[in-house]
Amino acid sequence: MVNIVPAVDETLRAKAYALRHAVFVVEQGVPEEIERDEHDDGAFHLVALSGEDCVATGRLVRQAGGVGRVGRMAVAAPWRRHRLGERVLAGLEAQARGEGLTAIELHAQRYVEAFYARHGYVRAGEPFVEAGIDHVVMRKPLA
Ligand SMILES: CC(C)(COP(=O)(O)OP(=O)(O)OC[C@H]1O[C@@H](n2cnc3c(N)ncnc32)[C@H](O)[C@@H]1OP(=O)(O)O)[C@@H](O)C(=O)NCCC(=O)NCCS
Repeated sequence: MVNIVPAVDETLRAKAYALRHAVFVVEQGVPEEIERDEHDDGAFHLVALSGEDCVATGRLVRQAGGVGRVGRMAVAAPWRRHRLGERVLAGLEAQARGEGLTAIELHAQRYVEAFYARHGYVRAGEPFVEAGIDHVVMRKPLA
């Protein structure tokens, strides 16, 4: 069973950061110095725990104008396509709604645009390259 919980303490946050390092830095080649950023400390992070192991994570950053930014969505490779990404995304959206945010914006890697489209995100701009990876801005209003 996998439980999705807020990363409320340093131990859980360290697990989230370790998974992000494995996925973004090691697997995708994102430079380490930009993977962790100034938004981490103030963000809301979720972790999916299988026993003690963090197998998925994602974060919500509050932006100006009542818009949330979802990012750093990462599922451990053996756990992909088992709806963990979907559950983390839903949890971040629920948190955003609870905080009264009116929309979520994110930078989707283009190869997973379909993942976000399937959850109501719509392209909001032209594709661009970030950290050497093709991205597109996507947006979803929160009811
Ligand atoms: C993107 C990611 C978070 C998705 O999480 P996930 O748990 O694998 O996705 P889910 O099981 O919840 O959703 C699956 C659905 O999303 C879409 N999807 C997910 N991964 C996909 C992929 N690689 N290619 C195309 N569609 C994909 C499909 O519609 C899929 O449905 P299907 O399995 O019935 O075909 C995960 O693949 C991941 O961590 N990738 C590496 C890091 C990354 O690229 N993060 C995204 C940054 S924007």
